[in-house]
Amino acid sequence: MSLAHGIRTLGVLGSGQMGLGIAYVAALRAKTPVLLYDRSTEQVDKGLKLMDKLLAKDVSKGKIQDVEAKEARERITVVSQEQGMKGLRDVDMVVEAVSENLSLKQKIFSSLSAECRPDAILASNTSSISITKIAASTILEGQSAASESGKQSAARVVGLHFFNPVPVMKLVELISALQTSEDTLNRAKAFAVACGKEVTVSKDVPGFVSNALLMPFINEAIMWLEKGVATKEDIDKTLKLGMNHPMGPLQLADFIGLDTCLAIQQTLYQGTGDSKYRPSVLLERMVDAQWYGRKNGKGFYEYP
Ligand code: CAA
Repeated sequence: MSLAHGIRTLGVLGSGQMGLGIAYVAALRAKTPVLLYDRSTEQVDKGLKLMDKLLAKDVSKGKIQDVEAKEARERITVVSQEQGMKGLRDVDMVVEAVSENLSLKQKIFSSLSAECRPDAILASNTSSISITKIAASTILEGQSAASESGKQSAARVVGLHFFNPVPVMKLVELISALQTSEDTLNRAKAFAVACGKEVTVSKDVPGFVSNALLMPFINEAIMWLEKGVATKEDIDKTLKLGMNHPMGPLQLADFIGLDTCLAIQQTLYQGTGDSKYRPSVLLERMVDAQWYGRKNGKGFYEYP
């Protein structure tokens, strides 16, 4: 089948809540075959169970037909551990959705650069890490960033920032690295639109538009709690009922993951040197305690 966005097969790296959500919208909405790879088979199994649950829920609510759910599920293929990243060698685009860790992402993009076709788009779902730094990691040993092949390698890297829960949130933030080509931006945008998303564009600044604005808000709410200005319930209720936010900031922090919030805030603080981005001590301590929020059952609230 010919697809308007030109992505005949998508690779998704990471099958956590973001990677799985991306695989879901790609398979169901963009009708694109997906190769899903995660170095943890346990995580893949968990992800696929969630996929089945999401599809069954959409069928039971009458949003999609049973046959559409079946077709979407059949579009997802898991890449074996033996194949590893080599399994992604023929895809037209990869979206990386692993944890917020620069050196891990650099390692992955270096491998993708070696394994994938030279015209494949390499996208990162990072929430805050520099796409320019990630793009530079595709320059292979012995290659110069100024050579034609070096420029081409980095020109296909782009930020494609989805929001959680991916099936529900309408936005994708597109981030252009210094090296990203116009063609890469246009193709990545067309794919996000095919996944049913609206697209905004941000320059490659720490946190991009979304998290440079969201994280100081969340951090400030944590500091109000730390100072004892109000209870966690009242802080959340104030924003929920007073400003019509779907979740209060502490609930939202738990939802995003406190470890992820801290990693983003550290990137913002280190990347700008601006004290307004300094993570609160309480957030740091909660992450020290391994209270990561909803994902492991304990954050500001408990999730039995
Ligand atoms: N995965 C898939 N679908 C989900 C879901 C999940 N984890 N959680 C809820 N949904 C779906 C529900 O099934 C339901 O779908 P239908 O309309 O088909 O029934 C819909 O969302 C509404 O869910 P609920 O009625 O159960 O609950 P709700 O009305 O309280 O909505 C919410 C839940 C959509 C999560 C809402 O609370 C919300 O929008 N919260 C804010 C989320 C947000 O801000 N996300 C961005 C975080 S920042 C980020 O992701 C980027 C970053 O870089 C950190």
